[in-house]
Amino acid sequence: MLNWDEYDETKAAPKPQQEVRQEVSESVSEETQEPVEENFMPVESGDRAKQAKDAIQDLDTKEGEEELEVLAGRVQVDDKAMINCRADLNQLVPFKYDWAWQKYLDGSANHWMPQEINMTTDIALWKSDDGLTEDERTIVMRNLGFFSTADSLVANNLVLAIYRLITNPECRQYILRQSFEEAIHTHAYQYCIESLGMDEGEIFNMYREIPSVAKKASWGLKYTKEISDPGFVTGTDETDKKLLKNLIAFYCVLEGIFFYCGFTQILSMGRRNKMTGTAEQFQYILRDESMHLNFGIDMINQIKIENPHLWDEQMRQEAAQMILEGTELEVQYAKDTMPRGILGMNANMMEEYLQFIANRRLVQIGLEEEFEGATNPFPWMSEIMDLRKEKNFFETRVIEYQTGGALSWD
Ligand SMILES: [Fe+2]
Ligand SMILES: [Fe+2]
Repeated sequence: MLNWDEYDETKAAPKPQQEVRQEVSESVSEETQEPVEENFMPVESGDRAKQAKDAIQDLDTKEGEEELEVLAGRVQVDDKAMINCRADLNQLVPFKYDWAWQKYLDGSANHWMPQEINMTTDIALWKSDDGLTEDERTIVMRNLGFFSTADSLVANNLVLAIYRLITNPECRQYILRQSFEEAIHTHAYQYCIESLGMDEGEIFNMYREIPSVAKKASWGLKYTKEISDPGFVTGTDETDKKLLKNLIAFYCVLEGIFFYCGFTQILSMGRRNKMTGTAEQFQYILRDESMHLNFGIDMINQIKIENPHLWDEQMRQEAAQMILEGTELEVQYAKDTMPRGILGMNANMMEEYLQFIANRRLVQIGLEEEFEGATNPFPWMSEIMDLRKEKNFFETRVIEYQTGGALSWD
């Protein structure tokens, strides 16, 4: 089971209250006893504006330029690269990766907020005694439990690890957009949990307390731990491969596999006219997620093109292993959440669906299929997601995203 102490032992180890109080009082007394700053001169309120003017007059624009070696020059397309790039990252154009900018525009065109969705019928159904079976209630709770944490893990990984290591401004622009979308997703789960009057402590702690949920969260965290260390830098084969593995873990597995069982269950519920508000929230989220996944796959493939030496036999084997481990975890999650057939599906059908998805993820990053002949037992999922849109740059350019925020229910 996931344990935060293992994730960061030094920071997580709680201190006795007395020790904490002692430290606080020591730091307060140090602050009050020591002089604030040797050259500090109090400024009369009338002089503050003059001091600000003087400071701006003397501002040295050269300061900090040493860190950006080529800041003085205009960036050319050929200066740009996905990782380990020394070109000025504040110059968005000229674009090198049009697909990244296009996805930023598409994501922005699909903007939505959780409060736009009416939850009234869900609240009535959830509170009625005979509206849902126990198994159906378990599915709703387990999925809100997993996703409410999973989207936070993805968001943290983006802003604390990936963002600074991807050295391309148009990709960073999409990552910023994606980060906000992840915040909206966490908001959406919170909105469902609050609307339905669920025990928030129980739901938000499921990723630590329910084994099939905890294993998935723990598996993802393993790939964040090292590269989110502020001291971690890329630039060697070993560290570049660690970044690549993180991208595969988060884009191909977390967003590309771990979301699929839960999304299928909730959307199946919506198709049966149950929990339609929750299902609509999930449908909007799924639309965002399929774009996140495709952006991630484009990034992974672009890094491979620019750094072919990273994609050696060992790396290919490890990448395939990661996707297959993720598939196994999701199959276990399916069995845990569906001990019996429910909503026109069962764990065996879900296993085949996940094998079908795993084959697709493998092929999307240039690896061989694993599960021969696996087919999609839930073709309606493809229709909801509109798999025609689930194309990435290396298959075909996306041209089919709608430009309005509203979903079509056709
Ligand atoms: Fe998300
Ligand atoms: Fe996402």
